[in-house]
Amino acid sequence: MPLKIGRGASAPPFMVMDVIAAANARQAALPPGAPKIIRMEVGQPGTGAPAGARAAAEAALRGGDALGYTEAFGRPSLRARIARHYRDWYGLDLPPARIAVTVGASGAFPLAFLAAFNPGDRVAMAAPFYPPYVNILTALGMVPEIIETGPETRFQPSIAALDRLDPLPDGLIVASPCNPAGTMLQPDELAAIATWCHTRGVRLISDEIYHGLHYDAPLATAAALSPSAIVVNSFSKYFSMTGWRIGWMVLPDDLVRPAECLAQNLFISAPHIAQVAAEAAFDCAAELDGNVAAYRRSRDLLVASLPGAGFPHLSPAEGAFYLYADVSDCANDSRDFCRRMLEQAGVAASPGLDFDRARGHRFVRFSYCGPEADMAEAAERLGRWR
Ligand SMILES: Cc1ncc(COP(=O)(O)O)c(C=O)c1O
Repeated sequence: MPLKIGRGASAPPFMVMDVIAAANARQAALPPGAPKIIRMEVGQPGTGAPAGARAAAEAALRGGDALGYTEAFGRPSLRARIARHYRDWYGLDLPPARIAVTVGASGAFPLAFLAAFNPGDRVAMAAPFYPPYVNILTALGMVPEIIETGPETRFQPSIAALDRLDPLPDGLIVASPCNPAGTMLQPDELAAIATWCHTRGVRLISDEIYHGLHYDAPLATAAALSPSAIVVNSFSKYFSMTGWRIGWMVLPDDLVRPAECLAQNLFISAPHIAQVAAEAAFDCAAELDGNVAAYRRSRDLLVASLPGAGFPHLSPAEGAFYLYADVSDCANDSRDFCRRMLEQAGVAASPGLDFDRARGHRFVRFSYCGPEADMAEAAERLGRWR
């Protein structure tokens, strides 16, 4: 008798993980002394946790604290420190009771989706998008609804596009700065979207994981713009702590208790040692802002050099550490294009198919969070290759 397989089993791979594996294999196969593969496929800072965070973790380990479970929503001191962060960065007073510490932003999504939606509910988002939004919603029986966006709206959803949704969706996910395009919603655009959602009973989920990695555009948080929005954030990007698996949510009042019960059942708590380190990371602004300055220099270099290297159609690089390049003038299969770029130019990048199933075959995502010298070398190699 064949056994049943659940709907989660049909979640597609996160393709960039396959590109990472291909780049690793290519690097391993290179003869000694050959120029190394330049890694522009990964979306994780190469810098590691700031020194103050590592020192706090070390002290906690040596201190004999049992580092057992914390409360499901995290250590009270960390929740209070996150609340202070909202005062410092956005001038917003938030009660720590609305803050939930999570297992990365990734751990926040199932909590948010399960607290806010039912199977069959429709949740809209712009394409290109961060692939796990669609894959997690689908695994939970919810229905992603894709809004195609392009350079005319800086790959972000517009009110005009939302007005065209009929029937209204149950939820909307926005990300600013976004992955893969690295573009941002201006504060007035985010405010208009927040109001649009709140007045129509559409639950807004604002992924703010790239806050802090923004270069010129001003920053706004949906937590200040809507009483019903869920905000997702993380220590993975600006705080440079990917492997510590620690993030947070700001919850609207009506979802605090439901999300807490879910968190108790699904995760018990986020890793205790990571919570200690994360709290200390807030006091490492000088080191973290130094990382941001390096990203800014890499961004400026690539924005200036990639057009001459054969990539003239780039997304406006407003934040995060991504450039989304339209390569349709020379390729119609971004997966094959990235494979050839890896083999022939020694530069790894992600095919857009991960982020946009309908049009991603025409796009490539470059990530510039690697070492600055590598980014300069990448532009040269790509210029020679194209
Ligand atoms: C837009 C976006 N949201 C969420 C995540 C998940 O981050 P984490 O689970 O490491 O906090 C990522 C990771 O790259 C991302 O790009």
